[in-house]
Amino acid sequence: MRLTSKSVALIPIIATVVTAAIGATLIAPPAASAATTLGAAAQQSGRYFGTAVAAGRLGDSTYVGILNREFDMVTAENEMKMDATEPQQGRFSYGNADRIVNQARTQGKRIRGHALAWHSQQPGWMQSMSGSALRNAMLNHVTQVATYYRGKIYAWDVVNEAFADGSSGGRRDSNLQRTGNDWIEAAFRAARAADPGAKLCYNDYNTDDWSHAKTQGVYRMVQDFKSRGVPIDCVGFQSHFNAQSPVPSNYQTTLQNFANLGVDVQITELDIEGSGSSQASNYDRVTRACLAVARCTGITVWGIRDTDSWRASGTPLLFDGNGNKKAAYTSVLNALNSADPGTTTTTTTTTTTTTTSNDPGPGGCTASVSLNQWNGGFVATIKVTAGSSALSGWRVTTTLSNGTVTGSWSASGSGTSGTINWSNVDYNGNVPAGQSTEFGFQGSGSGAGLNPSCTAS
Ligand code: XIL
Repeated sequence: MRLTSKSVALIPIIATVVTAAIGATLIAPPAASAATTLGAAAQQSGRYFGTAVAAGRLGDSTYVGILNREFDMVTAENEMKMDATEPQQGRFSYGNADRIVNQARTQGKRIRGHALAWHSQQPGWMQSMSGSALRNAMLNHVTQVATYYRGKIYAWDVVNEAFADGSSGGRRDSNLQRTGNDWIEAAFRAARAADPGAKLCYNDYNTDDWSHAKTQGVYRMVQDFKSRGVPIDCVGFQSHFNAQSPVPSNYQTTLQNFANLGVDVQITELDIEGSGSSQASNYDRVTRACLAVARCTGITVWGIRDTDSWRASGTPLLFDGNGNKKAAYTSVLNALNSADPGTTTTTTTTTTTTTTSNDPGPGGCTASVSLNQWNGGFVATIKVTAGSSALSGWRVTTTLSNGTVTGSWSASGSGTSGTINWSNVDYNGNVPAGQSTEFGFQGSGSGAGLNPSCTAS
């Protein structure tokens, strides 16, 4: 058949780009070109290395010098918390947080947002609230703060520390918990709607030991969220370690088991009390545990110098009070530089981005897939983009010939294999003209050839 210009225009343009192949660590350079800063060393395996930053120290030139040189991710230590950003109800205050954000952005660093909803460091007005008034105030806070920083945050700690310590494996009692067990998923949905581009994390401490009830409780929640399509992308492990709470021997197992649920894992507030070679070897273990887990996307330490730490007496950080590198610094740097496919990667991962573009025109939409595959499983993230007019609902069709969906998020699917129709859920059907939203699914087998196509509904 001879193709007329009209029929050519109707053929979808399919572009397939293989963006990374055979393990995230393949691009690590040989040891001869070892990186000399934490951020650059982490980037060799596609990861980041961050620190908590206090706005009050941005005038300290030693502090800022180390910050600018070493780190490529920043978390506000206190300045984005609820008491700082909404000191009076409905009156938002971003001055100190913006100082940190602007400093990071002018230096080309990314930002982790910490934290949208938490039982601690609440403003006084919120501490005395309860019931639906508190639920609404919390959701408004999440919406306002995430909207204010939309597009600037790599990952938000949407909910912090919601599980109880000890053997219960259940939720911590708090005013937020007493508004109903669904407060966490409500917060995640509000955050997704406000900033669809940010990764949304659940963050906690004492969740590092796989055998602990608290770890299991958080794991079950994430598993449940994934199975019901609650939008969660990552789990943060604070990892504040000391003699009472040492680095567990099964730390890497914990990170891997969470990652296997189809979320990224991040070490979000690392500090390890101690000194000398024992501290250095603990830092080495933690760093290598992250490097060994493909979906461990980065490490953040909770401060720069020992004297900047919330636990200063335990000298838990990588620089001493004078800003000198400690043995712990060198062990982290060496571990990051050692990342190579031979020692850290046991599975083969291929990321493929396929874009199908058929010029949707007004009312239409396009869908593209980012596929993370390994031997026996895959995670597909599908981006739905509105055409030149807004969508009020969408449907994406995928083809899964050699795999089976085991869980999905932010869309409901008509089945688990073959041709699957995915429809928006209640919070992501409205997509402004030219804007995007994402959903995803994980599965066993192969996710190759999904070939998504989108229609407005
Ligand atoms: C800490 C800060 O480092 C201190 O400056 C502040 O006084 C209390 O909070 N878990 C968290 C962090 O998620 O926000 C906490 O940060 C440390 C424990």
